[in-house]
Amino acid sequence: MMKIGSLQLDNWLMMAPMAGITNLPFRLMVKRMGAGLVCTELISAVGLSLNNKGSLIYLRSHPEEKPLAVQIFGAKPQTMAMATRIVLESGADLVDINAGCPVKKVTKTGAGAGLLRDLKNLEKVVSAVRRVCHVPLTVKIRTGWSPDDPIACEVARIVEDCGADAITLHARFVSQKYSGHADWDMIGRVKSQVRIPVIGNGDVREPPHAIEMKARTGCDGVMVGRAAVGNPWIFNQILQLEKGLPVETPDLTERRMLIMDHFSLLSDFMGEHRAALHMRGILLRYTKGLSHSSRFREKVTGIKDSESLISLLDEYFAFLREFES
Ligand SMILES: Cc1cc2nc3c(=O)[nH]c(=O)nc-3n(C[C@H](O)[C@H](O)[C@H](O)COP(=O)(O)O)c2cc1C
Repeated sequence: MMKIGSLQLDNWLMMAPMAGITNLPFRLMVKRMGAGLVCTELISAVGLSLNNKGSLIYLRSHPEEKPLAVQIFGAKPQTMAMATRIVLESGADLVDINAGCPVKKVTKTGAGAGLLRDLKNLEKVVSAVRRVCHVPLTVKIRTGWSPDDPIACEVARIVEDCGADAITLHARFVSQKYSGHADWDMIGRVKSQVRIPVIGNGDVREPPHAIEMKARTGCDGVMVGRAAVGNPWIFNQILQLEKGLPVETPDLTERRMLIMDHFSLLSDFMGEHRAALHMRGILLRYTKGLSHSSRFREKVTGIKDSESLISLLDEYFAFLREFES
């Protein structure tokens, strides 16, 4: 069990916010597969404050995924506060401030990881959001901008002093973007500096890694990112492993069913045609490591509609079943 502020979670596992990936259908999939908390992708506070349709759409939610964390990014305290009000009106159960996005378009405005370059402003932003935010508030940070400036502990103390209820550390430097090692020792160091819960993130690629991160760093929660894409069952696997149970992987029938569930949720969310196109990238992840997937993977790029998606899936899974037997 894990608690963030007043919010009681089912477990200590969280799905990382991921732009272009953690839409409502994806969140429902990982929630069903054991994630204790799901989060939207980063949403522009400026976009929300201007009532931008493209930003507001990210707030679409469903009771089944609750509790829902909504992540916002921005550099101006007032705009972030205004965005927080909008997010709360939409029914968010937790607000997360993005202080780790390395994308230049974001950082050059002082937002995302840009907040780590101006700690005075970070303080103002977190305090402004805290003043209007009546649900738990978290901040997602990185280890620092570059290896010569590992400031995560200092940032964590600031964030705690501003009233945040938990902190997530993606234990990579901004300069690393998403490659290279995550430094789990830094998660342990941050944990020793603050009283609020610390959520560790980075390089959980297999179920045992989550257990190991928790044991090695003492962190309260673990956030899984890329390893859950096309592999939403990783959350249940981690929970099984924690209980000492054998880790189960869906067989071919279950895997096909999960892919179809995901497609069906996507179709409801964005319409069948767009869902089929969106599924192309996701299918590559769902079939990673399966036998003879290279021909299937080549054909995936040719998917144009739901009919071609389903017939390609049928063909490949029939082949796999035959191959297995
Ligand atoms: C495609 C992609 C999109 C991401 N989008 C976001 C985002 O919107 N907000 C955020 O805080 N982090 C974002 N991240 C970072 C992840 O939340 C996570 O911190 C990172 O992937 C490290 O975890 P992992 O090693 O388990 O993948 C993104 C990462 C990727 C690969």
